[in-house]
Amino acid sequence: MGEVMLRKVSEDDLKQIFEWRNEREVRENSFASHKISWEEHQTYWKKRLAQHDFYSFIIVVEKENVGLLRLNPVDANQKYEVHILISSTYRRRGLGQATVFAAIQFAKQTGIKKLIAKVKSKNIPSKKIFEKNGFVPRCSVYEYNV
Ligand SMILES: CC(C)(COP(=O)(O)OP(=O)(O)OC[C@H]1O[C@@H](n2cnc3c(N)ncnc32)[C@H](O)[C@@H]1OP(=O)(O)O)[C@@H](O)C(=O)NCCC(=O)NCCS
Repeated sequence: MGEVMLRKVSEDDLKQIFEWRNEREVRENSFASHKISWEEHQTYWKKRLAQHDFYSFIIVVEKENVGLLRLNPVDANQKYEVHILISSTYRRRGLGQATVFAAIQFAKQTGIKKLIAKVKSKNIPSKKIFEKNGFVPRCSVYEYNV
């Protein structure tokens, strides 16, 4: 597919993002994996869009909206956490990998100093897209269901 472009999220995108966000695979790979209500979604996004240090982009390829990129500040030292979602229709075409690259370019232009990504251990595609772009695994979180 063509080049990945990043367009700022607007309120008009919220319905599309809602559909993507509640897909089974997206929920399974999220740390907040419950089904999100329209009300919760709207509350989250209205607050998010008003916070100017939270970056939110629709990933656009050949004029199609293919996914969502979010960058959230983690501390006051320009460290940001990256979240990527590619619509199920457009997965396995290299767009996740290209989006991580675009996020790094955006970070360089914006003065962001460090990017981190939290990935569930079974999320192989996600590990690949970050590692192929030079992200280095730093720690593992272990869980035990008592
Ligand atoms: C993770 C995600 C962003 C990857 O996007 P994508 O556009 O499908 O990724 P790419 O096409 O760039 O593929 C990356 C690699 O993973 C591999 N891959 C993709 N889907 C796979 C699958 N279901 N099983 C095994 N490997 C897979 C690809 O073959 C590719 O590997 P390669 O470069 O060695 O061929 C996308 O699957 C997604 O949005 N998933 C749901 C939400 C999510 O998990 N977000 C990330 C949370 S950290």
